[in-house]
Amino acid sequence: MNAPPAPAVFPPLPQDVPLSDLQREVIALKREKQAVILAHNYQCEDIQGVADFVGDSLGLAYRAAETSSPTIVFCGVHFMAETAKIVNPGRRVLLPDMEAGCSLADSCPAEKLAAARKADPSLYVVAYINCSAAVKALSDVICTSGNASKIVGRVPADRPVLFVPDQNLGRWVSARTGRPMRLWPGNCYAHVQFTPGALLRAKAAHPGAPVVAHPECTEAVRDIADMVCSTELMVAWCREQSAGTIIVATESGMIHRLRREVPLKTFVAAPTDRCSCNECKFMKMNTLQKVRDCLVKGSPEITLPEEIRSRAEIPLRRMLEWSR
Ligand code: 13P
Ligand code: SF4
Repeated sequence: MNAPPAPAVFPPLPQDVPLSDLQREVIALKREKQAVILAHNYQCEDIQGVADFVGDSLGLAYRAAETSSPTIVFCGVHFMAETAKIVNPGRRVLLPDMEAGCSLADSCPAEKLAAARKADPSLYVVAYINCSAAVKALSDVICTSGNASKIVGRVPADRPVLFVPDQNLGRWVSARTGRPMRLWPGNCYAHVQFTPGALLRAKAAHPGAPVVAHPECTEAVRDIADMVCSTELMVAWCREQSAGTIIVATESGMIHRLRREVPLKTFVAAPTDRCSCNECKFMKMNTLQKVRDCLVKGSPEITLPEEIRSRAEIPLRRMLEWSR
């Protein structure tokens, strides 16, 4: 039998890494096209290096709502670019690779949610932002991993709650808020690959290193972590730790952001039982070359039927207001 993979270790980043020729070209193009580049924390390092803003789903939703650029290049997955379009019907939103989906969003088809609502019209639907615009349009309020407890805390007390689509995040929020919730049986194919065994091996290899995990991990993995939070909160939490080495149980792109913003620490990407770190295949579909191409061509572009967009905007704006 093969030995389990050793965790990938990322020592502090050398200072002043020069931009590549392709990065310079993308920066010149975005100026020429008056475009803003928004990138999720899981994007590859060279994309993060040309972005105007790098953050979690919540930060990206606020940035998208505030931008005045005529074109938004959204480096993330499809539901994130759709979110930018929902709050910007008059702007062009480009996604470098239209195939960049999300297993979690796919686990909740709008027709199934519509049937659940029909079967019980008293339901109050809280939708994690990792869902399609059509699912958002059927929901009462949206949340992200960064504000889920706050949002659930504001749901009217007399309504039964259906939380979609991530059962792991839903269970975590329900435990933190004490609010019973029906949980949709969806999950993130990447985060559920972390196991207690792999995490304990990483801890044994790095004695004293605290563990930070994303709430999309299973409960058994979250129970081992010292901190469970959204990708954005991970940055602040890692900065505050006295330990010089930290184990990070989320998609490994997060390490690029952490290395830039918490420069003196060593980060260990939590392994799975099969791999020394964990990448989301959808997030990695965007490449810097595709960012360049979409700026040149003005496509692929996100479009939404106005009837869906306008209905989806209501619970999304409710989240942005409740989350302030
Ligand atoms: P964050 O909102 O914490 O960045 O998470 C988004 C995501 O897709 C996690 O898999
Ligand atoms: Fe979706 Fe998981 Fe990828 Fe996040 S990491 S985009 S939840 S498949």
